[in-house]
Amino acid sequence: MSLEKESTGDGSETFRHPVLGELYHTRSGAVTEALEKYSVPLKVWLKESPVLLDVCFGLGYNSAAAIDVIRQKGNNSLITIYCFENDREILRKVMSVSPGFGSYSLIKNFVNKFLEEQVVVFEEENVRLVMFFGDAREEVRKVRAGADYVFLDPFSPKKQPGLWTTDFMKDIFAAMKEEGCLATYSYARSVRVALESAGFKVFPGPVIGRRSPSTIACKHKKTL
Ligand SMILES: C[S@@+](CC[C@H](N)C(=O)[O-])C[C@H]1O[C@@H](n2cnc3c(N)ncnc32)[C@H](O)[C@@H]1O
Repeated sequence: MSLEKESTGDGSETFRHPVLGELYHTRSGAVTEALEKYSVPLKVWLKESPVLLDVCFGLGYNSAAAIDVIRQKGNNSLITIYCFENDREILRKVMSVSPGFGSYSLIKNFVNKFLEEQVVVFEEENVRLVMFFGDAREEVRKVRAGADYVFLDPFSPKKQPGLWTTDFMKDIFAAMKEEGCLATYSYARSVRVALESAGFKVFPGPVIGRRSPSTIACKHKKTL
């Protein structure tokens, strides 16, 4: 079964997963979601040499939005992003979309190097991208440098309950710096409970394209 491309409300493209039946992004706007649900509420540009985890990288929109906004805000320090993905099929689709991010050619080069030459560490324009290919639940335990920011973007808890468990949240928690914060689009009660059980302080995030807010979770309450 193949991935089918669909247009979203802000004109940007996404895909529909053939088995799960879900879109890779919100219908209201894929690019808008990447920026407004992840980078903006976490204010990713504030840290010098930020380290990010893009958990469930897909087309890499969340990483691209982060690089763009960090640079637009005048932060020219080294950006390190650890990217977690387990499906080559969606990575191949990176070459077929043009979401308009200034940094998307960099994302394309990174993914292409990974797919064609199995290169997992890619550095260009003071951005370091590292591919952790495999099950994110296993791969996240390999992260050594503590993350400042985490983007958590699996398919829904209904379709992928295994990626929203307290155990997985605990492993993400352990991979973060003390002042680190996470953003996710889901505001499901079960997700907030899992995050709290793992030790996070949980806050409502912005409302973008759906009725309920997204979720922000920090290791320390003072951070946001
Ligand atoms: C909702 S999409 C994320 C979209 C993505 N953030 C983007 O900007 O395109 C979920 C992604 O998680 C990936 N995924 C699903 N299960 C996974 C797992 N166990 N480990 C790593 N990635 C997984 C899927 O292949 C898919 O690309």
